[in-house]
Amino acid sequence: MSKDRKRLIPAFIDLGAQRQRMGDRIERAVARVLRHGQFVLGPEVAELERQLAEFCGARHAIACANGTDALRLVLMAEGIGPGDAVFVPAFTFVATAEVVVLAGATPVFVDVRPDTFNLDADSLKAAIREVESLGLRPRCVIPVDLFGQPADYRAIRRIAEANDLIVLADAAQSFGASLHGRAVGTLAAYTATSFYPSKPLGCYGDGGAIFTDDDAKAKLLTALRCHGRHPDGTECGQAGINSRLDTFQAAILLEKLAVFPQEIVARQKSAERYAEGLGTMVRAPKLMTGASSVWAQYTIVIERRDELAKACREAGVPTAIHYASPLHALPAYRQFPVAPGGLPQAEWLAEHVISLPMHAYLADEAQDLVIRTVRGAVRSLKAGEAHAGLAGTPPPAG
Ligand SMILES: Cc1ncc(COP(=O)(O)O)c(C=O)c1O
Repeated sequence: MSKDRKRLIPAFIDLGAQRQRMGDRIERAVARVLRHGQFVLGPEVAELERQLAEFCGARHAIACANGTDALRLVLMAEGIGPGDAVFVPAFTFVATAEVVVLAGATPVFVDVRPDTFNLDADSLKAAIREVESLGLRPRCVIPVDLFGQPADYRAIRRIAEANDLIVLADAAQSFGASLHGRAVGTLAAYTATSFYPSKPLGCYGDGGAIFTDDDAKAKLLTALRCHGRHPDGTECGQAGINSRLDTFQAAILLEKLAVFPQEIVARQKSAERYAEGLGTMVRAPKLMTGASSVWAQYTIVIERRDELAKACREAGVPTAIHYASPLHALPAYRQFPVAPGGLPQAEWLAEHVISLPMHAYLADEAQDLVIRTVRGAVRSLKAGEAHAGLAGTPPPAG
């Protein structure tokens, strides 16, 4: 690989490109925190919470230490524990199910849709019926907005209302997206997001936030993230954890939030460019009518992805697999229930997905290299195996 190519796409997610564009704004923000010295729950944390809530239109934003804790704190606030069933998609990052196990509840794995890769409402319905026969109480569903697109909250909210389920949106990958004119953060009773550095809105370490319109629960969550103590020092009466967002990270996020709207537009443009350049050669998740995505990943499905990954590596195009295994196949999760009919879509996707470089500052030449490489690889794979279904045909649904 030539040095020029390496420079074209230096990393799968090139955080340096954003840093360069932002000049010394971040250094100045960090220096301000060093000067005032309120390193824990300093003024930037409250200001960030105010701006995050305003950005998405939620009544409350509660900042916390990471996206995993954001999910976990909601389960704590709702008293979810042993005997409770929490429905999660089988095709997601492990944190979505991990918090359920940590709460002592039972994760129940639900299949995803072949078009959007997000939670399948029919599989959810079937799973609810199934857990009742297992003697578990259906309590909560955690839809995941995979790769940046909101799940089908209309359908999920309907099922949740009929079954008295709490909807906790795992929006670790989708803050900044919207569905039917409503922003992520307002699509469920609770929304949890992550500011992990590679997320569309990322800090320089760990960070997360919870969104809710419920005043009493917001007060409780604010206490739970700080050892169960309210800001005035009184106890909330429930054991909490230490999950405060660092003031430095809040200061960095305030600077990044200021440029986030332009970055969302840039990500959308890059996604459109990929879709145009790759055409029908590969398949990416389909956007639902009325949905926007923040394209946390640009993930495609393809047969023989290892060969595509190899061709990309040789051309200086970094790729990644999100995710190589559905959660129900991981050793720590094999004992938990799955929706009736199994999880064929989640299993199929885990074997066929591959993510291409995607961030807000991806240069046209870099994208051209990716598109050329993928097209070339697909063509030669097709030529080598004329009957291979390279556009990726998932198993029949249902
Ligand atoms: C879908 C999903 N849920 C939860 C998390 C957990 O977020 P964090 O790494 O901030 O704990 C992530 C982060 O990678 C994620 O992608």
